[in-house]
Amino acid sequence: MKLAIKEFLKKIIFRYTTLGKPSYPYNIEPSQLSKLTLLLDELKDKEGNFAEIGVARGQTTLFLSKHIESSNYLKSNKNFKYFAIDTFSSFLKDDLNYEVDNRGKTLKELKGFSYNSYEKWKDNFKCFDFVEPIKADCAAFKYESIAPLKLVFLDVDLYLPTKNALNKIYKHMIRGGYILVDDVHEGSRYDGAFQAYIEFCSEKNIKPFIIGTKCGLIKKE
Ligand SMILES: C[S@@+](CC[C@H](N)C(=O)[O-])C[C@H]1O[C@@H](n2cnc3c(N)ncnc32)[C@H](O)[C@@H]1O
Repeated sequence: MKLAIKEFLKKIIFRYTTLGKPSYPYNIEPSQLSKLTLLLDELKDKEGNFAEIGVARGQTTLFLSKHIESSNYLKSNKNFKYFAIDTFSSFLKDDLNYEVDNRGKTLKELKGFSYNSYEKWKDNFKCFDFVEPIKADCAAFKYESIAPLKLVFLDVDLYLPTKNALNKIYKHMIRGGYILVDDVHEGSRYDGAFQAYIEFCSEKNIKPFIIGTKCGLIKKE
């Protein structure tokens, strides 16, 4: 009887309100989520860790952690770690000022992510032993402490942290490893990541390659 009432209520809610309408909870495109899972699988037998840099509330972290768990990833990678690096308190002042002073942005359009909390985030992911949150500025972080890296997803939006982090991360990538950079899209609010990606590729003589509409790929040869 209870079940019948529940089903009836669900029918009413779905048909006559918008509460049952599916929503897409990810900040990144389906092609990025699938590329990240495919690359994790491709690199399964290689030594090295994965780092997501810029994690917000952890939507992508959850998706990829579920994949790692359900594909028995840790069986062949006992020491594998998923490092989740973020300030857990939004953008840094100097990085924002650079966007305003040098890239024609306004502070208003770059607001976001200040809801975050390292303690709460850590607690939300405690069920995944292999996920290790790190509270740090990605531009100053010592990547040798989490090396070697086989896959990195860099998603911090602005020019300065993206450019500085790319230069530091690349040295600690294994040969055949990949870095994916989000927001590589000219003319968008977060096109600082686009500028940093294009400059980095040009300096390293790497041919830019975009997955979907906004994800720059870098392979360490
Ligand atoms: C677009 S969100 C990340 C989205 C996440 N990767 C996802 O797919 O759901 C950008 C994040 O970058 C973080 N961030 C910005 N500047 C940073 C910096 N210098 N160092 C570390 N994290 C930073 C912000 O706190 C924010 O959580």
